[in-house]
Amino acid sequence: MAKDGSYIDLPYVVKGMDFSFSGLLSAALRAHKNGERIEDICYSLQETAFAMLVEVTERALAHTEKDEVLLCGGVSANKRLREMMQIMAEEHYAKFYMPEMKYSGDNGVMIAWLGQLMYKAYGPLKIEDTNIIQRFRTDEVDAPWVDNRKEKLNLPKELKAKGAESDIYEAKWLAMEAIVKNRVSKSYRIEEIDNKIRKARTKSEAKILSDVKKTGVRTPVLYDVDLEDKSIIMEKINGSLVKDVMSNIDDEKRKELAIAIGENIKAFHDGDIIHGDLTGSNMILIDDNLDNISDNLAIFDFGLGKYSDLLEDKAADLLVLKKSFQSIDYDIATETFNWILEAYDALNQSKMANKIHEIESRGRYTH
Ligand SMILES: Nc1ncnc2c1ncn2[C@@H]1O[C@H](COP(=O)(O)OP(=O)(O)O)[C@@H](O)[C@H]1O
Ligand SMILES: [Mg+2]
Repeated sequence: MAKDGSYIDLPYVVKGMDFSFSGLLSAALRAHKNGERIEDICYSLQETAFAMLVEVTERALAHTEKDEVLLCGGVSANKRLREMMQIMAEEHYAKFYMPEMKYSGDNGVMIAWLGQLMYKAYGPLKIEDTNIIQRFRTDEVDAPWVDNRKEKLNLPKELKAKGAESDIYEAKWLAMEAIVKNRVSKSYRIEEIDNKIRKARTKSEAKILSDVKKTGVRTPVLYDVDLEDKSIIMEKINGSLVKDVMSNIDDEKRKELAIAIGENIKAFHDGDIIHGDLTGSNMILIDDNLDNISDNLAIFDFGLGKYSDLLEDKAADLLVLKKSFQSIDYDIATETFNWILEAYDALNQSKMANKIHEIESRGRYTH
């Protein structure tokens, strides 16, 4: 049915490496009530939902710097999703794989594979010590077997970096070192969606960057915005990404870094600004200055940012950060995150921790 449709505007919600479908279905039902053609609704629903899935996959790829994408599970039978995922992988210089269809629909095979990984990591369990938790979610599984040391992505030389959604170049701005962040078009998604989100995010990033600065947080100075080209020119910040620093410093320095992260997030959250993509790829330790960490943390990439004073949104922001740490170095993630929460708000730490846990176990975001 989706084949004969044309695009109608539906909500598109991505948070870090997660997404939210909660508004999507109700918007589609509303469109139906308002007399929109069912073909148009199906087409737009499919294009929006799949574009979100593919985008979060690209975000995970960019964040972990992996060079492989594997699509599996029953939904991979869908031709359009397969095509989109494949285009994204190619454009991100990554390899794309899909298991044979007969394994994709088979939960038994996937459970058995996970069982093998767990066996290797933890050794055998007595059968009487095992039980079934029906509500266990895939993202609740501790995954200490993830090895981030191998197969790093290789980028073409002219690119300084490839972000989750943009190409990053070095440039000059009035003789100063600058960074050009170009939100490139993604050909896996239809033009209407592609244009809409690239424009909205470029605009919102520029605005939020300046508002965050007012809360005392160090962000790149904004030099120029080009909404036609969907690009931003900003100050270049020298130093290493926090995700790379984090695993290579001693515990004392890691704690200092965690405290700086917690305090900075608290500062813009108190200004009712939500980052939307808090990860160790979106923070830099300026000049790798380990002697004065608290004055040398810069936070950037507010493209998914928004304004909100809700505890729910602030907790969701922190949950994205927690998951991002877990994806880089599982062994230190929990301790580091607890330090961050303590520095964020020592007095109300348990209130925030409970909210984060609530969202996590609910398994979805409501905004
Ligand atoms: N102002 C900056 N100074 C130095 N490096 C930057 C700057 N902005 C971005 N980068 C580099 O480019 C990468 C991607 O930029 P980012 O804004 O996070 O893009 P995306 O929204 O695509 O994730 C960052 O992880 C960082 O390595
Ligand atoms: Mg980024």
